[in-house]
Amino acid sequence: MSPLFLALLVAFASATAAAAALDDSARGHGHRLKSRTFLSPPFSLRPGAVSNKWYMDVAFPRGHLALKSFNGEVVDARGSPVPLYETYLHHWLVVPYYPAARGGEGFLMRTNSGVCRDTLGQYFGLGAETRHTATWVPDPYGVEVGGDPPPEGYGEERWALNVHAIDTRGAADRPGCTECRCDLYNVTVDEDGRRIGAGYAGGTRCCYDQTRCRVEDGFVDGEPRELFLRYTVMWVDWSDAAVVPVRIYILDVADEALLQGKSKPDCMLEYTVEECSSESRARNDCVDVKVAKEVLPRGGDVVYAVGHQHAGGIGTSLHGQDGRLLCWSTPTYGSGHEAGNEAGYVVGMSACYPEPGAVRVRDGEALTMVSNYTGERRRTGVMGHFYLLVADGREEPRQQQPAPSKRRRRPSLCFSFPVPWCAPAWLSIGQPAMEDDDA
Ligand SMILES: *[C@@H]1O[C@H](CO)[C@@H](O)[C@H](O)[C@H]1NC(C)=O
Ligand SMILES: *[C@@H]1O[C@H](CO)[C@@H](O)[C@H](O)[C@H]1NC(C)=O
Repeated sequence: MSPLFLALLVAFASATAAAAALDDSARGHGHRLKSRTFLSPPFSLRPGAVSNKWYMDVAFPRGHLALKSFNGEVVDARGSPVPLYETYLHHWLVVPYYPAARGGEGFLMRTNSGVCRDTLGQYFGLGAETRHTATWVPDPYGVEVGGDPPPEGYGEERWALNVHAIDTRGAADRPGCTECRCDLYNVTVDEDGRRIGAGYAGGTRCCYDQTRCRVEDGFVDGEPRELFLRYTVMWVDWSDAAVVPVRIYILDVADEALLQGKSKPDCMLEYTVEECSSESRARNDCVDVKVAKEVLPRGGDVVYAVGHQHAGGIGTSLHGQDGRLLCWSTPTYGSGHEAGNEAGYVVGMSACYPEPGAVRVRDGEALTMVSNYTGERRRTGVMGHFYLLVADGREEPRQQQPAPSKRRRRPSLCFSFPVPWCAPAWLSIGQPAMEDDDA
């Protein structure tokens, strides 16, 4: 047994023990944190193939809940994690919806609070980084679901799941296939039948469901295999805890509308990084910096934020109107072979957990987003998104509370290894408590 494997085993065992402790502690404190793991419907991929499907009414906890985390990974029929160099997970996302009431057609998506709600309306969603990105919603916050009655003409809330995966076994050009380069997919019209112009070299318009990327000779007739997204939802029942609801915002660095003086967002979702010039290479300044502005309709306390970047990404940041830093999120790259540590792939994004009240955004504040990629070579279909959870700013209790002794607040601990999870603040027994200056 290799030392690395042993270390993994030990790390896993302690994480499992901690998770069990977390569960017990949850019960003891009346938080009643619940966790369940589900499998998506199967999808089948042969070498080079793409699956990008929506699954309606997927398995999901029911009732009036506060979601505390959501994460997933691609597994095979035996339940073994599949590495990204075999099945590249472009993205998965989940969004609640209301199906038409009996006899009716269609459904109504219940999208997040904006600003790209037509294109990035999901409640949760990640890509290749999913295995090592913390999605824990810190206490006392939660994503409220299932609390509203369905609108007239619609049935109870359900959940839709979208999984976009690319099988790159035997790919002629693995990075090219994951970057959805149109020439490798031999695609000239997009999924809606629109011609793809010569100016569009790659991106999701060229790797839609049922397309196929070029593979080496020996893989052309490769057998399809069955895969699943295995996802874990953690939640508390709404009635069981005093949860403060959060709004979800997703920002897109490829949205140039505001910088061009337009008032409505125009989220493009992806962009192309050009190879840097020989001059910038000579100056050792081979970085593609993309900047966009986005207005947050309603402000509050940012309680969680995380960026989304593809391979080649070197960091993304979000700033307030005055330039103050709201969150800095950087990718982690794998360095090995096993699932969760694939060399050259983004296997995690660092998340921000600001002190409650420390990162505040005004209603209608124009935020600036920066997304950096290395310009070593051209890359198509790259992304720069920011996912934010924002809570209504709580009134300062100062005046009402006579002689407030400093609240002692324990730091929340987040781990991304071997599975991404965070110990809620109330669990960190034995950790030094931090003074909360509540300024
Ligand atoms: C690419 O598509 C064209 C027509 O759409 C087809 O004639 C050609 O054989 C395809 N090439 C490959 C390598 O699949
Ligand atoms: C992006 O690159 C610019 C220029 O090199 C640098 O000033 C900035 O700090 C970088 N930001 C991030 C988030 O990496």
